[in-house]
Amino acid sequence: MKISNRLKLIASFVDDNANIIDVGCDHALLDIFLALEKRNICSIASDINPNPLKTAKKNINFYGVSESVVVKLGDGITNISDATDTIVIAGLGGETIVDILKKDQPKLKNVKTIIISPHSYIYEARKYLTEIGFMIKDEKMFYDQNKPYVIIKFVRGQKLYSDDELFFGPIILKNRDDAFQKYYKTLLAETQKILNSLPDSQTMRRIELQKLIERLDCNIKV
Ligand SMILES: C[S@@+](CC[C@H](N)C(=O)[O-])C[C@H]1O[C@@H](n2cnc3c(N)ncnc32)[C@H](O)[C@@H]1O
Repeated sequence: MKISNRLKLIASFVDDNANIIDVGCDHALLDIFLALEKRNICSIASDINPNPLKTAKKNINFYGVSESVVVKLGDGITNISDATDTIVIAGLGGETIVDILKKDQPKLKNVKTIIISPHSYIYEARKYLTEIGFMIKDEKMFYDQNKPYVIIKFVRGQKLYSDDELFFGPIILKNRDDAFQKYYKTLLAETQKILNSLPDSQTMRRIELQKLIERLDCNIKV
């Protein structure tokens, strides 16, 4: 089965034997790939919109995995089951991910692993999840088709993180690999450009950008 490198990498974060809910499953390609490629995976492929679920059902039937992947319509984790031990939320903003988890927090009681790939507000997502009893087991920053992505795997546990670790990711920061250098050097150059064009009267915004530049400068060069 052909899927994007992005989805393949997300799949590599899922453990064999996981019982997952894929929130915002869209086409359900991740769930189908997991059913075909990993051992003993059960998924609830869930989405708030009925249209993607029509495509998801077609794809599931085409690949013959309807025994492993169940499609459900619903907001966030409303469709979670008592057996669900893993939540996957990819392709949504970090603030939406936090909202989804916050409003149904009691439903996380049997959940051992949360895998997210937020396209924004990644700091806020790391902060929230580490405050409610999860710690970061693995994470990766990478480019697919020239677009940057981050995947973070949380498991149950308590760990204290510095503000820089919540911002960059503790494992991403430790590795500082090529994707990290490319992404943050670009961000540093863009931020510097914005700051240079900003009038002196915009004091608060200038301070904010200067702080970001300092943070980037310190952590890229280490
Ligand atoms: C950009 S797609 C991501 C699809 C897939 N997860 C991926 O990474 O390729 C976002 C999907 O999330 C769904 N969605 C948005 N908000 C949602 C929510 N609160 N609960 C469930 N699904 C949601 C949308 O309908 C859409 O299908």
